[in-house]
Amino acid sequence: MMRRELIPYTSSRGLRAMPPALGRRRTASCLRTALFLFLVTFVWLQLHVASLGGRPVPDPPPDAQGNDSVAALLSMVPQGLHKYLTPRPRNASAAGNASDAAAAAAAGPARAPLNISDIRRNIERYNEQQSVLNEDAFGPLTNDSVVIVVQVHTRITYLRHLIVSLAQARYIETVLLVISHDVYDEELNELVQSVDFCKVIQIFYPYSIQTHPHEFPGESPGDCPRNIQKEQARKLMCNNALYPDLYGHYREAKFTQTKHHWWWKANRVFNQLEVTRNHTGLVLFLEEDHYVAEDFLHVLRLMQQTAHTSCVHCNILSLGSYLKTYNYYADSKKKDGGPAVAQKAVGRRTSGNNVAPSWGFQVLPTLYQHYQKAEATPWISSKHNMGMAFNRSTWEDIRRCADFFCTYDDYNWDWSLQHISQGCLAHRLHAIVMKGPRVFHIGECGVHHKKANCESTAVISKVQHVLKYASKHLYPPRLTLTVTTTTKKQKLRKGNGGWGDLRDHQLCVNMTRSVR
Ligand SMILES: *[C@@H]1O[C@H](CO)[C@@H](O)[C@H](O)[C@H]1NC(C)=O
Ligand SMILES: *[C@@H]1O[C@H](CO)[C@@H](O)[C@H](O)[C@H]1NC(C)=O
Ligand SMILES: *[C@@H]1O[C@H](CO)[C@@H](O)[C@H](O)[C@H]1NC(C)=O
Ligand SMILES: *[C@@H]1O[C@H](CO)[C@@H](O)[C@H](O)[C@H]1NC(C)=O
Ligand SMILES: *[C@@H]1O[C@H](CO)[C@@H](O)[C@H](O)[C@H]1NC(C)=O
Ligand SMILES: *[C@@H]1O[C@H](CO)[C@@H](O)[C@H](O)[C@H]1NC(C)=O
Ligand SMILES: *[C@@H]1O[C@H](CO)[C@@H](O)[C@H](O)[C@H]1NC(C)=O
Ligand SMILES: *[C@@H]1O[C@H](CO)[C@@H](O)[C@H](O)[C@H]1NC(C)=O
Repeated sequence: MMRRELIPYTSSRGLRAMPPALGRRRTASCLRTALFLFLVTFVWLQLHVASLGGRPVPDPPPDAQGNDSVAALLSMVPQGLHKYLTPRPRNASAAGNASDAAAAAAAGPARAPLNISDIRRNIERYNEQQSVLNEDAFGPLTNDSVVIVVQVHTRITYLRHLIVSLAQARYIETVLLVISHDVYDEELNELVQSVDFCKVIQIFYPYSIQTHPHEFPGESPGDCPRNIQKEQARKLMCNNALYPDLYGHYREAKFTQTKHHWWWKANRVFNQLEVTRNHTGLVLFLEEDHYVAEDFLHVLRLMQQTAHTSCVHCNILSLGSYLKTYNYYADSKKKDGGPAVAQKAVGRRTSGNNVAPSWGFQVLPTLYQHYQKAEATPWISSKHNMGMAFNRSTWEDIRRCADFFCTYDDYNWDWSLQHISQGCLAHRLHAIVMKGPRVFHIGECGVHHKKANCESTAVISKVQHVLKYASKHLYPPRLTLTVTTTTKKQKLRKGNGGWGDLRDHQLCVNMTRSVR
């Protein structure tokens, strides 16, 4: 059930269907993991039986099934924020069309599409200038501000909703929002530059496939085909003949970009950007298809205080969890616990490929009995990779393990992080995690996944209703912390592959070395 490599729908990784043989090799380790998680959860349930019992489950609110028509989505958003959801009319094409004339006149003359050299030049300029928008209105960054870094690819519809959710958060005016792009796109730029509720800076990943379509880090003509045998590759003398991944496959550019981008932006923010390179406070990592609860900054502050007073070895905070497959219904029916609950609570992987979200609203009150509960637990990539925050001292530890991160044959940044936690860090990553999530995943499909319905807004509608319904439980005055310990030694495991090419290792390590 923890088979991340078959589950494409989070944006932090691409779809990479693994060969069946690999699946079998994994089964044993999956079973061990399952058993381990069952034990952990069982212990946790023992601690929580008292709090799970009791309270009757009220009827769902009448509109609880969600309604993702545009009108319905807008009706849940304050009027003043509709501007973030409404695409501006595009300037009409140069070839005039009588019926489009009015629109064209209103929008002005058309712009020629940008070619790659234009895009590279613009990216360079943005990265050089490092303009912080709205600094006049909101003042300089202070050491207790939160820096929010959002990794953005192309899914503008989700980004629009993330921005709307951020706009409604209390204390949002204190943050610096860093938007990190791996695709240069004028419409995305306009959207980001229209944000007026906090300081904003855009950074552009400079080694993208968009700007290197026919050379590394994109696909270069001399690269070995993915499925060729090593013998054959040697004869062909293709570029990377000596470096297939653990499973015998050659590099596919599009699956490497997300990890490179993640590593680049973390280095960029902590060590290079003028505005943040001396920042000692928290940096929170989000992605374009996340959605925040309005009290997330309040809760983050509480988590920070809780770490300080009650868990000094906790070095990473996690606001999210995977609502999509958290079966609240089962949870509320089986209050006494047991394996069904245990397995369901573990995470999104149980739902298989892109199954529609199945959580029911009638059981939300169960979730929000947890509204002020936090858990201290070893950091596990598959459970705690959403809405993660840490400060410079944790980053310095991670950065010292750059080689470990960059040479691990796994194209997932979060599994790579877990790998360094287990194999390199002097102090492993230990997390404080909210039981009632403050970051939600609204994307239907992964970055590279193309299928019908990938732009679906059904989950957004549901999250809107979850939050509306739970609003009276937000802003807890304090957190209660439970501690999950495990005596089981986690074994270093083989990576998921996709990261065997020496050039990827070098590019990744170079990002840590280069200082502007
Ligand atoms: C969704 O909302 C719109 C506008 O509020 C309404 O006209 C429509 O009937 C709703 N659809 C459903 C299935 O409830
Ligand atoms: C002009 O616009 C109309 C309506 O937008 C469209 O139906 C028509 O095909 C367009 N004509 C051309 C030549 O693009
Ligand atoms: C349309 O053209 C005007 C005038 O050149 C320009 O200011 C505006 O940004 C353009 N809008 C879009 C959406 O391209
Ligand atoms: C890209 O477009 C610009 C004009 O926008 C032009 O001056 C330049 O020559 C073009 N470059 C290439 C490589 O096509
Ligand atoms: C943050 O800044 C304040 C005021 O400049 C200072 O007193 C405090 O020690 C700083 N805290 C950290 C962690 O640097
Ligand atoms: C950051 O620290 C360096 C070295 O301590 C200093 O030179 C630089 O001016 C500082 N930058 C900012 C923005 O405070
Ligand atoms: C950074 O986090 C660590 C825990 O990882 C904590 O001990 C330290 O006090 C924090 N530093 C600042 C400046 O808040
Ligand atoms: C990494 O840096 C080294 C030394 O500067 C350089 O020779 C090499 O080409 C770089 N590799 C990549 C993939 O960027």
